[in-house]
Amino acid sequence: MSEPVPSFPSNFLWGVATSSYQIEGGVFEDGRQASIWDTFAGTPGRILGGDTGSVACDHYHLWRDDLELLGSLGVNAYRFSVAWPRILPQGTGKVNHLGLDFYERLVDGLLERDIAPFCTLYHWDLPQALEDRSGWLNRDITEAFGEYADAVTRRLGDRVAAFATLNEPWCSAYLGYGNGHHAPGQQDPGKALQAAHYLLLAHGRALPIMRANAPAAQHGLVLNFHPSYPASDSDKDREAVRRFDGFFNRWYADPVFLGSYPEDMWQAYGPLVPSIQDGDLAAIQAPLDFLGVNYYTRAVIAHDPSQSWLRLREAAPEGVERTAMGWEVYPQALTELLVRLQRDYPLPPLYITENGAAYPDVLEADGIHDIERIRYIERHLQALHDAMRQGVKVCGYFAWSLLDNFEWAYGYSRRFGIVHVDFGSQRRTLKDSGRWYQQLIAGQRGSY
Ligand code: FCB
Repeated sequence: MSEPVPSFPSNFLWGVATSSYQIEGGVFEDGRQASIWDTFAGTPGRILGGDTGSVACDHYHLWRDDLELLGSLGVNAYRFSVAWPRILPQGTGKVNHLGLDFYERLVDGLLERDIAPFCTLYHWDLPQALEDRSGWLNRDITEAFGEYADAVTRRLGDRVAAFATLNEPWCSAYLGYGNGHHAPGQQDPGKALQAAHYLLLAHGRALPIMRANAPAAQHGLVLNFHPSYPASDSDKDREAVRRFDGFFNRWYADPVFLGSYPEDMWQAYGPLVPSIQDGDLAAIQAPLDFLGVNYYTRAVIAHDPSQSWLRLREAAPEGVERTAMGWEVYPQALTELLVRLQRDYPLPPLYITENGAAYPDVLEADGIHDIERIRYIERHLQALHDAMRQGVKVCGYFAWSLLDNFEWAYGYSRRFGIVHVDFGSQRRTLKDSGRWYQQLIAGQRGSY
């Protein structure tokens, strides 16, 4: 029997999250030009099954239905992202007002339903035109991002509750430029570190622009954390964990909250460290109103001298519960992560901006009985509550995701939605997890 989810504060935000490329489709409509994901997905061999985001959930046309869905779920916050190539199709220069109109209609629809709009500016769909100028490896991109942030916050800044600059810069940098699993598909760890620096710098430089345009909104950043645990008690494995934590977690949180890159990692990277200029770290350390934390799983790490990169490997434990991504279900790491972040950094209030799970859902005649997803979310909410009881200030939780969608390199093969999408007919069906979340929210908000 599972424990009931404890009561959260009455002003806690209950949301769901999506991102532009994963749901919108309509990739060449109303002036949008290609993003790096259009190019990447169009390259044979990059995406499982050759899938692309050209249609995805067709949210660009079905957004009114999706607003109805959000209304029926009873969420009081919705996290979405804006597609940069809809706003500045060439990355910089002329603003495409049709692109802004789309998001304005969405935001107004959310407000009509008393749903707080949480807008992420960059969830990985970089205009291809900027990638053609070396993308996140070109320092000029920090100005381009400022231009883009300016255009969006000028138009939506009086209505959006919270803006996040970036979603998961580790993924943009390392998966994009380090191991090539994501767009633009480059494989060079040194480039990944340079991209990470320009991502963080773009974030820090955009914040004052965003604040000036949207003084009433909250402004923050979304980081993904991978809490790591040693495969054994050996000193070697513990040191490997420290390196993994430096590579994945501290390389991003330290500059943002402490104003410096972690010294041990700077040494370990040697010639691979990024080129930085005076003043960069001060800009990156700009104060935040919130930090968005994305958490899915933990990593178990072993020392491995045969691995040239960081001399470690993931030593996945056997016999544990896993999702369809192969990710271990380990809610306790969420509690430990939040308590640790609170201990190590001068944190602003937190939101859990993503948490959820893919499972091989079966659409039966009477619906989708995704009990495992319910258990996953329930256990993570309990873990979150534990952290809050230990004093961590968390103001909201966003389930990933509202809809089954284009799961990056996995295409449509991994379903994270609490709403099922039939990608042939675009029919949306509430899963049992969606119904469960709806009831949970109603209970938590006292609106039964
Ligand atoms: C996160 C991404 C999100 C989604 C989930 C499963 O890393 O931010 O877009 O793909 O993973």
